[in-house]
Amino acid sequence: MMRTVYVNGEYLAETEAKVSIFDRGFLMADGVYEVTSVLDGKLIDFEGHAKRLSRSLNELDMANPISKADLLEVHRELVRVNEIEEGLIYLQVTRGSDGDRDFAFPDPETPSTIVLFTQNKPGLADNPAAKKGAKIISIEDIRWGRRDIKTVQLLYPSMGKMMAKKAGCDDAWLVEDGFVTEGTSNNAYIVKGNKIITRALSTDILHGITRAAVLRFAREAQMDVEERNFTIDEAKEADEAFTTSASAFVMPVVEIDGVTLGGGVPGRVAPRLREIYLEEMRKAAV
Ligand code: PDD
Repeated sequence: MMRTVYVNGEYLAETEAKVSIFDRGFLMADGVYEVTSVLDGKLIDFEGHAKRLSRSLNELDMANPISKADLLEVHRELVRVNEIEEGLIYLQVTRGSDGDRDFAFPDPETPSTIVLFTQNKPGLADNPAAKKGAKIISIEDIRWGRRDIKTVQLLYPSMGKMMAKKAGCDDAWLVEDGFVTEGTSNNAYIVKGNKIITRALSTDILHGITRAAVLRFAREAQMDVEERNFTIDEAKEADEAFTTSASAFVMPVVEIDGVTLGGGVPGRVAPRLREIYLEEMRKAAV
């Protein structure tokens, strides 16, 4: 089905939607994005994604081109016209274009570019991969130092996914000074006994919207949560490991660099958190 997408205030057929070749998103990766999931035709944690979008824009001195109310309306309209029951909505805002290439930012009055499109993903919640668990490799984290800003500089994460694929695995965890920062497109966790361990928030990692909800549900379920650095070696000795993201929710990890965790099958904690997350977020969807 030909998608309807949103570009700078207009709903257009995907083949008709265009942005300038001078757009700074294209030339400089000068843009930020959000990915929001859709379950039962409703938006999961729209509030969290809208808030982080504002923060990312603010950190980069980029004007917010749309109010939260209008943004919600655009998300809902795209879900409606594209008949999305389960899937994702991708949103990107760039610093736009003043019709040329220059390292200096254009005049602040230059309109930003805003683009949204849907991705239809039937079976997103009931994903068989979550029952099997993911195999990951570790690679060095050589990204820039402001990973808390959700920019479109995704070349290294893409390369990481390709390295994983080449190794016959599903994804990669990024390691800096021996400590795991996060996954290529998700936050990383290990479980030891009844304790969930994940890196604390800082500029080293993206402040995952799914992370915030999952840690809240874990604490409500009386699980221990420790926000601290952990090494890749500690991860290989953990009882369980998992990742969180808006696109895969809670995903068990069953192998790290060829070392099997929990007998190679998802343990108790990650599948339970996935269940709680999906149930609670479905109730709160808008
Ligand atoms: N990625 N860390 C990184 C580097 C990410 O790219 C993402 C999300 C996350 C998890 O954040 P959240 O829970 O808010 O989705 C952590 C999205 C899904 C993507 O790039 O497609």
